[in-house]
Amino acid sequence: MNLEDIKTVLILGSGTMGQQIGFQCAVSGLDVMMYDIKADMLETADTRLKKLAKAYMKAGRLTPETAAAARNRIQMTTDAQKAGERADFVSESVPEDPELKARVFAQFHDICPAHAIFTTNTSSLIPSMFAEKTGRPERFAAFHFHDTRTTSIVDIMPHPGTAPEVVALIEAFAVRIGQIPIMLKKENFGYVFNAMIMELFKSAQTLAANDVASIEDIDRAWMGVMQAPMGPFGIMDSIGIDTVWKVTDYWANIVKDPQQGKNADFMKIYVEKGELGEKTGKGFYDYPGPVYAAPDFVDSKKKNS
Ligand SMILES: NC(=O)c1ccc[n+]([C@@H]2O[C@H](COP(=O)([O-])OP(=O)(O)OC[C@H]3O[C@@H](n4cnc5c(N)ncnc54)[C@H](O)[C@@H]3O)[C@@H](O)[C@H]2O)c1
Repeated sequence: MNLEDIKTVLILGSGTMGQQIGFQCAVSGLDVMMYDIKADMLETADTRLKKLAKAYMKAGRLTPETAAAARNRIQMTTDAQKAGERADFVSESVPEDPELKARVFAQFHDICPAHAIFTTNTSSLIPSMFAEKTGRPERFAAFHFHDTRTTSIVDIMPHPGTAPEVVALIEAFAVRIGQIPIMLKKENFGYVFNAMIMELFKSAQTLAANDVASIEDIDRAWMGVMQAPMGPFGIMDSIGIDTVWKVTDYWANIVKDPQQGKNADFMKIYVEKGELGEKTGKGFYDYPGPVYAAPDFVDSKKKNS
């Protein structure tokens, strides 16, 4: 199988990530079949695709004509047989549950052509957890996107049984759809960027949970030295404190590190108050217009500013 043989992409799960990945494939000229178990999810996806097209147009990545052409390349269905029978490449974005993912892949293994490559967009699992259950472990790997509106970085993470030519094809496919592949030589929880950012979050949470410095000063230190537009707490607000708390709590229970448990408890206070960050208007900061976004946030403590 060559890169040119990949013409139809099947997206499993039409939620936040399925929409983004499907749209990026369609923008790149591929035919996309979007599958979901719920018709109302597909309706929502249709509305969200319009918003996604607007975001791409605003960023100068599409014209109204190219956006309409991309949308026309996307078909949506709740019929698994219809969805899978012509697929050359599968990208799975169903909820983060290894049992569910394994079940969905096994279902589509029976429907999709034998040559089709299977990929998972999982955030926190590793592919060997359910590779055998996909029915085609040698043609399966993780292919993980971030937010396609703001970054083109993708992770490619094979498991020990992934065929080398399949890894090479996924890498070529990533470039074909305008992405920048980060190649993992071995399985690693959190891939590359997420693994690094979680360490930053852990350090920031530890500083705040132990009352070493204020949330604002922790962000100010990071922003001032790194010349960055946001600090770790600003970033956690934008991701959603509930999401970051879930990962923090999960790992605190696995590694049984008391400090990580304390960090999870610190995050949980915000979750229980419903202060989840930007999406709820309040988190570590108030939105819109969080104080860290003010032009003088870092310099505001200077003597004469
Ligand atoms: N949201 C993010 O920022 C992000 C980023 C990278 C990776 N991920 C990963 O992507 C995956 C999906 O996340 P999301 O945020 O898009 O989730 P989501 O909840 O927005 O969407 C999941 C979709 O899967 C559908 N679904 C459920 N069961 C299904 C089945 N059996 N067959 C087909 N579709 C089914 C749901 O109806 C829903 O539309 C997860 O593994 C997540 O870890 C998420």
